[in-house]
Amino acid sequence: MHKIGVIGTGYVGLVSGVAFAETGNKVIGMDIDAAKVDMLTKGKSPIYEPGLEELLQKNLQENRIHFTTSFEDMIQNSDVIFIAVGTPTGEDGSADLKYVKAVAEEIGEKIESYKIIVDKSTVPVGTGAWVEGIIRDKLKVRGLNVEFDVVSNPEFLKEGAAIKDFMEPDRVVIGTDSAKAREVMGSLYQPFTKTGGPIVFMDRVSAELTKYAANAFLAVKVSFINEIANLAEKVGADITKVREGIGHDQRIGHHFLNPGPGFGGSCFPKDVKALIHTAKESGQSLHLLDSVEKINKVQKSVIGNKIKYIFNDDLKGKTVALWGLAFKAKTDDMRESPAIDFVEFMLNNGAKVQAFDPEAMENAKKIFGDKITFVEDQYEALAGADVVAILTEWPEFRSPNFSWLKQHLKRPLVVDGRNLYDLDMMEREGFEYHSIGRRSVGVK
Ligand SMILES: NC(=O)c1ccc[n+]([C@@H]2O[C@H](COP(=O)([O-])OP(=O)(O)OC[C@H]3O[C@@H](n4cnc5c(N)ncnc54)[C@H](O)[C@@H]3O)[C@@H](O)[C@H]2O)c1
Repeated sequence: MHKIGVIGTGYVGLVSGVAFAETGNKVIGMDIDAAKVDMLTKGKSPIYEPGLEELLQKNLQENRIHFTTSFEDMIQNSDVIFIAVGTPTGEDGSADLKYVKAVAEEIGEKIESYKIIVDKSTVPVGTGAWVEGIIRDKLKVRGLNVEFDVVSNPEFLKEGAAIKDFMEPDRVVIGTDSAKAREVMGSLYQPFTKTGGPIVFMDRVSAELTKYAANAFLAVKVSFINEIANLAEKVGADITKVREGIGHDQRIGHHFLNPGPGFGGSCFPKDVKALIHTAKESGQSLHLLDSVEKINKVQKSVIGNKIKYIFNDDLKGKTVALWGLAFKAKTDDMRESPAIDFVEFMLNNGAKVQAFDPEAMENAKKIFGDKITFVEDQYEALAGADVVAILTEWPEFRSPNFSWLKQHLKRPLVVDGRNLYDLDMMEREGFEYHSIGRRSVGVK
């Protein structure tokens, strides 16, 4: 049993905290957001993540986790402290470390005995050493000589499958040169290696770079298949078949080869930017990632442009039923969602948007306000609509009531950014159907 403090109870901090509690540790989740702490204390998860709320309630009941806004409570009662605050994109594209800095300073001001400080947030190479320096400086001012270790332990969970990813990880990366920290971190993660992959120990800088390299590689994969999909459309190939044809090659694999409306979320866009920035600062260019950014920007306009083309460049007065707002299925996260670009495109072109998402509507309302109409049901979005646009691959959109759709749309037109439907079936059902990297069907 370890005594664990987690600073920041967002997607990463909350999931990590609950998972560590579930494996028998005593966990304190600390956040500056009092409303969040209040909700969590009552067993309500502020974010949607499958299985999270149940696990949260179970561990609250068994007194293995509690939440606080008090830094003192957290630091005095923990031996291992995870920093899991946000690291958003700064003005120059670098990762903005203001939250990490605030936390490091507070640790330096409050630490009294040996602690392992773990950078779980995604932070640029060199941040571990920087955090160590901040803490050391604060200790110097206090005239104290307290031992501590700063470890890099990047997180690889996916939103929508965060609990499973955390408890059955493909691998755990731990970056430290301290034997003491290595032993504690190893024992903390040991339960998860029974269900998941191995712990990979390395130096701190390599661990920091590993996280960015992993996300950048996945962003490359997505952008690659998006470009090939756009080409497939031009040359009359079917991207679904091409994907299958290349995915069986074990050197390539099937994962992350789904064409779509561009990647979004809280990680890929910002981490690609931050890595480009790190490289620039080191005097190196990352040409591949520069291209990924360009490709993704273009991809986010693909669905909007298709619709505009279908309506002969005139969207004024048209109504779009939008299915899906979240950047991917099974999350309520709207950060950098392709739906944001899509909605802006539609509004700028004079169209009206009626949107539905099973989980992300509250977050979407914070972004769009009353600029679009939010409806309570995917079918309600169709009222008076000229077209259905699909931006998120929610399971409930996969087998809709097609005859209802046809009856209620002004024109049986579906533009699908996630390739959810079979082309022959859509043709048989009498739809005009456009997707990504495949032929369009039912076009008159
Ligand atoms: N979301 C993901 O899927 C994911 C996956 C892997 C890594 N990451 C990385 O993990 C980090 C956290 O991401 P997230 O999505 O969980 O962020 P988030 O925005 O959901 O949560 C961050 C939390 O930190 C809190 N916070 C900010 N300053 C604080 C302070 N001084 N003291 C205490 N709490 C404070 C905020 O109130 C918020 O609750 C980022 O670096 C991100 O890149 C995220």
